[in-house]
Amino acid sequence: MSTLLGLDRDADFADAEREEPACLAVVSPVAFKGAPRGGLRDAVLAGAWTGRANRLSPGHVQWDRIDAVAEASRHTGSTTSAPIRCASVPLTPSVEVRPVSTGTGGPNKPGGATSLILQRRSAQAMDGRSSLDRDRFVFILRRLMPESGPPFDALDWDPCVHLALFVHRVNGLEPGIYVLVRTPGALTRLQASLHRDFGWIRPAGVPEDLPLYLLAPVDCRRIARQLSCGQDIAADGFFSLGMLADFDRSLEERGASFYRNLYWEAGVIGQALYLEAEAAAARGTGIGCFFDDGVHETLGISDHRFQSLYHFTVGMPVDDARLTTSPGYSWQ
Ligand SMILES: Cc1cc2nc3c(=O)[nH]c(=O)nc-3n(C[C@H](O)[C@H](O)[C@H](O)COP(=O)(O)O)c2cc1C
Repeated sequence: MSTLLGLDRDADFADAEREEPACLAVVSPVAFKGAPRGGLRDAVLAGAWTGRANRLSPGHVQWDRIDAVAEASRHTGSTTSAPIRCASVPLTPSVEVRPVSTGTGGPNKPGGATSLILQRRSAQAMDGRSSLDRDRFVFILRRLMPESGPPFDALDWDPCVHLALFVHRVNGLEPGIYVLVRTPGALTRLQASLHRDFGWIRPAGVPEDLPLYLLAPVDCRRIARQLSCGQDIAADGFFSLGMLADFDRSLEERGASFYRNLYWEAGVIGQALYLEAEAAAARGTGIGCFFDDGVHETLGISDHRFQSLYHFTVGMPVDDARLTTSPGYSWQ
């Protein structure tokens, strides 16, 4: 990966901070069996590289911890390649994966994948009033389940990330703290890790096959805002959520480098949410600023069996008239 991205070229980085290859994603209309290897790398090695690494501008904060985490989680190649099991049941996709034809110059059908992908932005603010219908909420959560097809079929490990939801404005659903258990095997361990007095009630009107549980029927707008670094977007939407990773267990089983996989899974859930929010004529925002200790305290987590990695919010956006959006591609 370093070679493909030009990051292994010591001379280019003589005066600049090193960069860390994190992830290589192949987007293709047909299923890829395994990652592209030798050919691409050889082509890069035989090619002529242009450009030099730039220095970061002065005055930025030096986050040494990030370098330490990158070092500690680097894949050494020593872990097994056995399937990764956070869930106790094997994952079998129930949806057939079909190639999608999006075209590059064709018309962008309203509501079609192309237009949703191209129109996707992050909400800067939510209106604090609008609500989402329960059926649509259920539809969105279903799309976040591992067996729902793309993009989750791009992950070759059993799912390790579950959702702690702060539901504010969903018609027909009591406001409160909910959990979506994305693999059946995690239910008892989540129940053992979270507050003993949580209800774990199956909400009325939510289909039996969607593993959504009401933990506590409370107005959680204030706590959601507080936990997301005081950001109003976490309280003013339909719902916000924290992504709880099956932490200790997966790192013990898979080695320290799996730390990165947990973030990738959280990121994929975030991207799916961004698009589902657009499809629901609403908008989402990824929330990377949150207090994980506070999240754990709220949920009653006292160790690292589960760890909050990423937050997200979905709601009705309030447009900031000062911002302009231009087409991202010449053919749009
Ligand atoms: C991992 C991640 C974390 C983010 N954290 C926050 C956040 O804490 N607060 C916020 O207002 N926006 C957050 N955002 C939204 C970014 O500010 C936004 O994605 C970026 O400005 C690019 O704009 P766009 O999403 O509209 O293309 C986050 C986005 C990502 C992907």
